[in-house]
Amino acid sequence: MKFSTLTKANAAGSIPLLLSLARSFVTPLYRANFLVAALDKGVLQQLSVGPRDVDTLADALGITGDRQLLRAWLDLGVRFGELKVSNGRYRLGSRRAKALARPRNDSVAAALEEVVRFHVPVLLNAPAMMQSGTRLSMSDQDGSIIARSSRIVEPFLEEAAERVLPRNVPVRLLEIGCGSGVYVRHAASLNPQLTALAIDYQADVAGVAAANVADWGLAQRVEVRQADVRELTSVEGFDLITMHNNIYYFDKQERTDLLEHVRSLLKPGGQLLLTTACKGGNLSTEVLGLWFEFADFGGPLPDSGELAAQMQDAGFVEVEVRRLIPGEQFCSFVGSSPSPHPDAQEPPS
Ligand SMILES: C[S@@+](CC[C@H](N)C(=O)[O-])C[C@H]1O[C@@H](n2cnc3c(N)ncnc32)[C@H](O)[C@@H]1O
Repeated sequence: MKFSTLTKANAAGSIPLLLSLARSFVTPLYRANFLVAALDKGVLQQLSVGPRDVDTLADALGITGDRQLLRAWLDLGVRFGELKVSNGRYRLGSRRAKALARPRNDSVAAALEEVVRFHVPVLLNAPAMMQSGTRLSMSDQDGSIIARSSRIVEPFLEEAAERVLPRNVPVRLLEIGCGSGVYVRHAASLNPQLTALAIDYQADVAGVAAANVADWGLAQRVEVRQADVRELTSVEGFDLITMHNNIYYFDKQERTDLLEHVRSLLKPGGQLLLTTACKGGNLSTEVLGLWFEFADFGGPLPDSGELAAQMQDAGFVEVEVRRLIPGEQFCSFVGSSPSPHPDAQEPPS
């Protein structure tokens, strides 16, 4: 190659720019996509058991077609540094891949998948969606990935529930948007006299929760139902209602009415515990908020002051806001349904 060709190619600065983009954006993007696919299809999990050749992996994945394609994809995983290969057998190559393959890091694996499958597309498609007037819908999300990734905040939500859950007395709990059902399980473990109705709008999510509840031996105490909270009525009234990570599934203008309806499902003196990421937190939650702004059914992450005011407008009393995660805008909101005044007169019958 002539030196003048190199000088010409470099003159506009495009080659250094391309190299810098490749280092800072492109390679990490490739790696993230590779890892998500490898996790989703169980390749990392297979390799965490031990090295595997292409045929063994193809059999495990149910791939009957061209195995050379699988090899080409795996070899790129090796180039990205996420896998290693020797004597035709692949194994996990990075500490990150090893950590993501561990079952106890499942919520982190799901969070990475959420970023790649949902956050990246909304950033990519936002201007086009504005031009065409199209919106995202619930079917653009995979409820099972979201239910898994939401578990990252599980210890903080458990602590919030421990603060409000009465013990040693019978408690009737309603969990709205129950996801995998883990928070109902936690509440049931804290109070053996608790019984619950756990609902989720998405049928597949409710199905997984029902199977989990049965596996945990809680089917006698916890009923799981596919339902929209807006259409739920209750004669008995609940002592406690929990809503974790789902207020942004409702339009901002709809939230006061929704909260009023939720309050109507409580017994007098009953409590609502609502937890949510609020505006102004980490970048990932901000992009999540953008996703819901572009959805045809949801709204932005709430501002904490505004949501507390909406709870008060909905008739909740003693509304208390608490930041659950240090340095993050992740909050709990607790409010009570007013108890009748002790001096209140019974209406004449
Ligand atoms: C982000 S997930 C959170 C799941 C679970 N609460 C958690 O924190 O792991 C929100 C859930 O709320 C459910 N949801 C949304 N709108 C609902 C509605 N109107 N009634 C009942 N559930 C709803 C969704 O189907 C979804 O499973």
